[in-house]
Amino acid sequence: MEGEGVRVTIPTINGDRLWTDLMALGEIGYSEGRGVTRTALSEADLVGKAWLVRKLEEAGLTVTTDAAYNVIGRLPCGTPGAGLVAVGSHLDTVPQGGKFDGMLGVLAALECVRTIREHGVEVPWDLEIISFTDEEAAHNAGTVGSRAMLGQLKNGELAKSVGQGRPTFAEDLARAGKDPARIGEARRDPKGFACYLELHIEQGRRLESEGIQIGAVTAIVGIYRYLVIVEGEASHAGTTPMALRDDALVKAAPVFTLLPEWVRDRNPEMVGTIGQVELHPGATNVVPGRCKFVIEVRSQEKADMIHVREALRGYVAERKGWRVETILEKEGTPCAAPLIQAVAAAAAAEGLSCIRMPSGAGHDAQSFAAAGVPTGMIFVPCRRGMSHSPEEWIEPAQAAQGCQVLLRTLLSQAGIR
Ligand code: GLV
Ligand code: MN
Ligand code: MN
Repeated sequence: MEGEGVRVTIPTINGDRLWTDLMALGEIGYSEGRGVTRTALSEADLVGKAWLVRKLEEAGLTVTTDAAYNVIGRLPCGTPGAGLVAVGSHLDTVPQGGKFDGMLGVLAALECVRTIREHGVEVPWDLEIISFTDEEAAHNAGTVGSRAMLGQLKNGELAKSVGQGRPTFAEDLARAGKDPARIGEARRDPKGFACYLELHIEQGRRLESEGIQIGAVTAIVGIYRYLVIVEGEASHAGTTPMALRDDALVKAAPVFTLLPEWVRDRNPEMVGTIGQVELHPGATNVVPGRCKFVIEVRSQEKADMIHVREALRGYVAERKGWRVETILEKEGTPCAAPLIQAVAAAAAAEGLSCIRMPSGAGHDAQSFAAAGVPTGMIFVPCRRGMSHSPEEWIEPAQAAQGCQVLLRTLLSQAGIR
């Protein structure tokens, strides 16, 4: 897909139109002061998916939803056998998230397709815009839609939930009208994809603090997640003397401060988080009878994550009433060297500053890279590096710059420069 290529004037995307779309989508699930809550397969997410289907159809794409409820818009413009270029991201958010994490990638892909059609640019392959279901781990492990598409789901994982009182992915998918038993039908042959591209906000501070406009992503971080369950005995908080308590939270507590030590001692680049803790029965006047929490570690190095996993397993094995279950073990994945180069070249051609950098956040792109599909990612800065927060923000010009680099990268894969 490379070579000297054809020189044509690369058209300019319509930044105002992209911004209007971002703001319109950002209203779905928005509430003042609390940002956007459009967790996967919630009512708001389904409204968002329906909104996207209309937008893709208006742009002249053929739209389907697959068995994982991924929304797929296809522009069948390719020559037979030339394959398919996919561009995507996700519309689901974390609780109280922002308007750009995921949405920018999907709506920029839409803007690229509109621009390609309006300017009559001919590309040799079919184009697909894909909005993946449950990137954000609302139910369990995250990147569910892209992993379903690439055959990476683990047996039984959709029937598990780590959220307190939350339905499982399978239950929510059924409520949304798709049969979870048929999710395997979402699977596609990775060889059918010539490449996969994704534009995303950086979700960190590096680009902003260095005054750089574009990040050419070199690799996406690995993520391991474990559910730890500590059993105690629920009893009356007023009448159970301290000496007679079996308080599950108090037993679990040392791990909350041990985890940062395990991580820091191993590799200063690694991160570890306990972001979800549940107490049962969860009442102010009951000594906790059970504590469940999720440990997540991220690193580019598999050995780092294994190191922490073994420290955790060792700790758990020495204690009665403790157990640990694996939620996710996803390795760090490199982006394709020619696509890293293509992103850097596209930024240079647009007169934008660019650095090569790894991603500390997980992305659907990772599922493609892990399946051997040549994968490229583009980052734009976000204000104060804030993401997964109502504070998440980018400027219209940054959205437009990222989209323009996405278009140029995409066209470069057709030899158009
Ligand atoms: C997704 O945003 C993740 O990195 O968890
Ligand atoms: Mn995202
Ligand atoms: Mn996210």
